[in-house]
Amino acid sequence: MSKKCCCGNDKTVQFKELAPTMEKYANTPGSLITILQKAQEIYGYLSIDVINYISDCTGIKPAKIYGVATFYAQFRLQPIGKNLIMLCQGTACHVNGSEQIEESVCEYLDIKDGETTSDGIFTLNNVACLGCCSLAPVMMVRSSEGDETYGNLTKEKVTKILDEIRARE
Ligand code: FES
Repeated sequence: MSKKCCCGNDKTVQFKELAPTMEKYANTPGSLITILQKAQEIYGYLSIDVINYISDCTGIKPAKIYGVATFYAQFRLQPIGKNLIMLCQGTACHVNGSEQIEESVCEYLDIKDGETTSDGIFTLNNVACLGCCSLAPVMMVRSSEGDETYGNLTKEKVTKILDEIRARE
């Protein structure tokens, strides 16, 4: 398979934040996961355009990249909402009812883990321990304002928090 460097083409300008990663890894076998992780970190998700750009740089066919991206749960192919809800499912949170909290959030927002609300305000992700187990059950909400942590959640409390966030959007 022929591999070409993408430096200097139009897409390098469009994807300039990712270009240094491509320079470093495009020709290194076995680096696709690393490249996809970096692309998602920068753009929030893996768009068709970014997959095509990675394909141009690495010589790996877009269908293969897409296959890898869909195989691993860590990769997103759709944009995330303005607020990323990271709902802890670690041991302490689990013992303290995180499953019921998840049920409430899913029911209230009408989405499942990994999905985004139709208004684009929320994306829900179940995550491992957030490191503040004494507040279990816990969720962290990431937005352009930064990360905010909410602890000792109850069904009532979590829906109130979601209402407040939606009201300020
Ligand atoms: S288990 Fe949830 S914060 Fe540690």
